[in-house]
Amino acid sequence: MGSLFDSAADQYDAARPSYPPSVFDELERRTGPLPGRLVLDFGAGTGIASRQLVARGATVVALDIGEQMLRRARVRGPQVPCVVADGHRMPVRDAAVELLTFAQAWHWFDGPRATAEVARVLKPGGYWAAWWNRASAAGERWFDQYEALLERECPGYTWRRHLDTELEPDWSGGPVRERGPVEPAGTLVVPWTRHVSATDWLTDERSKSYIIALEPVVRESVLAEVAAIIGAQFPDGRLAVRYETTLILARKAP
Ligand SMILES: C[S@@+](CC[C@H](N)C(=O)[O-])C[C@H]1O[C@@H](n2cnc3c(N)ncnc32)[C@H](O)[C@@H]1O
Repeated sequence: MGSLFDSAADQYDAARPSYPPSVFDELERRTGPLPGRLVLDFGAGTGIASRQLVARGATVVALDIGEQMLRRARVRGPQVPCVVADGHRMPVRDAAVELLTFAQAWHWFDGPRATAEVARVLKPGGYWAAWWNRASAAGERWFDQYEALLERECPGYTWRRHLDTELEPDWSGGPVRERGPVEPAGTLVVPWTRHVSATDWLTDERSKSYIIALEPVVRESVLAEVAAIIGAQFPDGRLAVRYETTLILARKAP
């Protein structure tokens, strides 16, 4: 198994941001305390969210199709078991898990197939939780230029705009209804400001799927344009960028 992120695992590990603490506060408030709870973190990648869940006391298993991504997760958090696994065929018994998490990952899954697996492996009353970080500085000139550049040059650069309308699963859909209903259980949007160096911002860019997918020459030219845009806006090389983290929860009927 492999992931398109594998070739950029080092950049991913070095520069992707973690998630704001209030996401985990809300997760606990809505789904119960994390200490001692088994959490399967699917699409765990280099383990950013897995480690945050461990820091909250959860017992976490990190699962991903990307071997190189999981290798980084193991180096960074040797206490977290890592399993190479496809979320469309979860290596998990029926009704075995209280909490499944998908940090920055659910959009990579085929909705109906993954949803059917979620419904199968969750215990009655168990929760699905997905969340995403995204830069959210629309209206700032540099950011609008940056977004326009990515939309122009990167064929895969569409998902951010679709996040609010398309990523929340249709829990009433076929396979889930047949296997037992999973109902929406709340959302939370956390605004925050990311402080990051220009160097790290560019490293982070290299870990984005739509940048990885570019031909090397095009990639370097796009990154040079990104560097010019952020260099003009943040001449001291220190960016402060508005972000939003969106948490979505769903629950299997008790
Ligand atoms: C954007 S990364 C998110 C990584 C991590 N959760 C985080 O918060 O940084 C998405 C991850 O989903 C994984 N992924 C994509 N499709 C998958 C599948 N079918 N089963 C398991 N993992 C998958 C990718 O390999 C990648 O590591």
